[in-house]
Amino acid sequence: MAGRHRITALSSLLLLGVLLLLSAAHSSAKPLEKCPGDGKSCQPPKPPVVLIPGDLGNQLEAKLDKPSVVHYICYKKTDTFFTLWLNLELLVPVAIDCWIDNIRLIYNRTTHTTSSPPGVNIRVPGFGQTSSLEFLDPSKRSVGMYFFTIVQSLVDWGYTRDDDVRGAPYDWRKAPNENKEYFLALQQMIEEMAEKAGGPVVLIAHSMGNMYTLYFLNQQPQAWKDRYIKAFISLGAPWAGVAKTLRVIISGDNNRIPVISPLKIRSQQRSAVSTSWLLPYASSWTKDQVLVETPTTNYTIQDYKRLFSDIGYEDAWLMRQDTEPLVKDFTPPGVAVHCLYGTGVDTSEAFQYSNKFPDVEPTVVVGDGDGTVNLQSALQCKRWVGKQKQPVMLKELPANEHVNMLLNFTTVTYIKSVLFSP
Ligand SMILES: *[C@@H]1O[C@H](CO)[C@@H](O)[C@H](O)[C@H]1NC(C)=O
Ligand SMILES: *[C@@H]1O[C@H](CO)[C@@H](O)[C@H](O)[C@H]1NC(C)=O
Ligand SMILES: *[C@@H]1O[C@H](CO)[C@@H](O)[C@H](O)[C@H]1NC(C)=O
Repeated sequence: MAGRHRITALSSLLLLGVLLLLSAAHSSAKPLEKCPGDGKSCQPPKPPVVLIPGDLGNQLEAKLDKPSVVHYICYKKTDTFFTLWLNLELLVPVAIDCWIDNIRLIYNRTTHTTSSPPGVNIRVPGFGQTSSLEFLDPSKRSVGMYFFTIVQSLVDWGYTRDDDVRGAPYDWRKAPNENKEYFLALQQMIEEMAEKAGGPVVLIAHSMGNMYTLYFLNQQPQAWKDRYIKAFISLGAPWAGVAKTLRVIISGDNNRIPVISPLKIRSQQRSAVSTSWLLPYASSWTKDQVLVETPTTNYTIQDYKRLFSDIGYEDAWLMRQDTEPLVKDFTPPGVAVHCLYGTGVDTSEAFQYSNKFPDVEPTVVVGDGDGTVNLQSALQCKRWVGKQKQPVMLKELPANEHVNMLLNFTTVTYIKSVLFSP
């Protein structure tokens, strides 16, 4: 069924399938009645809003001056930056080889950092604006719609784009350990918005953006959070990782888009540090639960080192070690938090491989979740109840898929209630 295609927010191209799905969706938020006269004075005061997107959740641009290319049709040099994500034209057969060679990262085992291939310069456009996360494709084709419904609802309630509702896009191929400047920019933007509005900010994050937000809040002193943050609305958070990252690293995931070879896209998907960061954590998976099964071996969360050695990709183990401590302790955010999570959608839980492992598609065992995030990972939010003095609220969104929950009327209404509560 076409609706089964989902953004996985977790590995490149998962997005594409969802895009088809998103194109059929539409905003269900109704605009508020405007005040007569100046249209502002009778509106209740409203906190500024910062949006933190998930994996694949904002545009990336590239500029090239490469010593070599993987195919003669690939550009070696460009005069200007062009959209690398999301640009559907770059993802068609053959062109996708060029794309993979531009968006992949190279891990340095000495410095424990990643870099783009030689001659590839990548930047994140639009920090502080909403455009690069409302639509992933700058041509604003509805297929790439992401935060648009939420932003448009905010505007209907009296907000102004790039003023009191702003986006905080980042290089989602990396984990927070390689995005230090991002957190400084985010802190500065929150302070500026709060000062201007005369009150604290509401953070709205989706998917991996929640892990970024938690990491950020864990770095801030409590006094800073008390002063600058009113609430943190968390949508579809993979708090303890997600099982499908294992498939992505082992055999690649084309999200059932037939023209894309999973094994080909795998080389790029594996290289993203954020994928290793989002591997399942011991807080949600028991140590004897089999995640990956082959004719000769069963792998659990205790076996990552052996698994990545067996598939010949040891960088994944090193990247995991670099990133696992970032939010592993699951320290409460120290702000009012609202965890909204989807349930009732088949979600990959374990993978069974034939003797062609790892260069073959697995049989997938499914469980509960939002189609990307396993339910037990989303529910980690419960662990904060009673562990911080600020409220921790959980709200289940039955039958909500990972990305579609951003379009759902229930989600939008919930956001409104948080923004306009005292
Ligand atoms: C890794 O980084 C070190 C230190 O900057 C450098 O000397 C080395 O050449 C790099 N390794 C690779 C494979 O690029
Ligand atoms: C792997 O675990 C399954 C149960 O999850 C079991 O049936 C199978 O025999 C195990 N395989 C190996 C090689 O240990
Ligand atoms: C929106 O979410 C509610 C649950 O919160 C669900 O019952 C409903 O089916 C969803 N609507 C759509 C269009 O997905």
